[in-house]
Amino acid sequence: MTKPKVVLGVSGGIAAYKACELLRRLTESGHDVRVVPTDSALHFVGAATWSALSGHPVSTEVWESVHEVPHVRIGQGADLVVVAPATADMLAKAAHGLADDLLTNTLLTARCPVVFAPAMHTEMWEHPATQENVATLRRRGAVVIEPAVGRLTGVDTGKGRLPDPGEIFEVCRRILARGTATPDLAGRHVVVSAGGTREPLDPVRYLGNRSSGKQGYALAKAAAARGARVTLVEANTGIADPAGVDVVHVGTAVQLREAVLKAAADADAVVMAAAVADFRPAVYATGKIKKKDDGGAPTVELVRNPDVLAELSADRALPGQVVVGFAAETDDVLANGREKLRRKGCDLLVVNEVGERKTFGSEENEAVVLAADGAETPVPYGPKEALAETVWDLVLPRLRSGT
Ligand code: CTP
Repeated sequence: MTKPKVVLGVSGGIAAYKACELLRRLTESGHDVRVVPTDSALHFVGAATWSALSGHPVSTEVWESVHEVPHVRIGQGADLVVVAPATADMLAKAAHGLADDLLTNTLLTARCPVVFAPAMHTEMWEHPATQENVATLRRRGAVVIEPAVGRLTGVDTGKGRLPDPGEIFEVCRRILARGTATPDLAGRHVVVSAGGTREPLDPVRYLGNRSSGKQGYALAKAAAARGARVTLVEANTGIADPAGVDVVHVGTAVQLREAVLKAAADADAVVMAAAVADFRPAVYATGKIKKKDDGGAPTVELVRNPDVLAELSADRALPGQVVVGFAAETDDVLANGREKLRRKGCDLLVVNEVGERKTFGSEENEAVVLAADGAETPVPYGPKEALAETVWDLVLPRLRSGT
């Protein structure tokens, strides 16, 4: 079997050294990788390194080995092109179709999925010019991974770091596994909530639940790999931010509601995988609640939290927005699920049975996805990634046409 052909484009940023690790992962997992750096990338990592690690000659120019027409052949023959790091300049060139070196020529001739992993200073990333270029590339079907937040080149920190090479590799692996030229969620914005809310009683105590957030993260990662712009509203999971995903960290149900509704304003789909507390303490004690001398215990009065899923479903931010809920049930799983689907008014409801050893914190899940049109899709026991893919497979035909 021939190895999948990957072009690793490297543009001129300090994060170029991290692309060596991405290259190593790609070659070690059986990919034939051709590295195409830009001239400025070679200021950071030399051609000898790329050549030795990839086992292929490396050039930046279209004028070398002209008889082999590499400026056309490399792109045409690729199964995937990944540009890591992608500088602001590289995104601009790609968005405008410039072709002044081997990498930009390769991008124009490639007909396979293209992934950009941008890395730059926060101001450059946030500049409207860069944001418009990113939007253009995404509209055309490219996967542009959201940069990570953290320490940048100097003492400054912010959004703009190249995501961990392992995460970029994971995005590439998933895209290659799907084998489609254009990722099927390209150009879409999806919102996923994950984790469990915590409702504070006092500065040291809260009411919480046992949701690990793993299913929500699996959904967010799967959507990013399928080309969507993803906003993940995360509550108390402690899981590292995944590559390619915009993460909003929240604590309580009220904060989660606010973040989800804000992100949902321009979303094509919203998936509520978070376990949102139905109740919160009526009063937050600003000081730690103390034991009383009489041996008694305090009574905690609870009030209802807003039902985010029901609100999203009843009051869609956009016509045709797809809303997906989750239902964790302990008894009469399917009957309760059907009733919940009707009550909440969502399009799809992923129903799973929970118990002591089921679902919470585990890597596996088993579910039935109920649809408002009556369809039922059983998902056999398996990794949460598989359930995530099934959810997006079911969301896809329900999305409004056009973007
Ligand atoms: N949900 C929500 N807001 C809440 C409670 C739940 O948006 N205040 C969402 C969850 O994210 C999930 C779905 O509703 O997608 C189902 O949650 P579940 O706890 O099973 O439903 P409840 O409405 O709490 O029903 P009950 O506790 O009566 O079974």
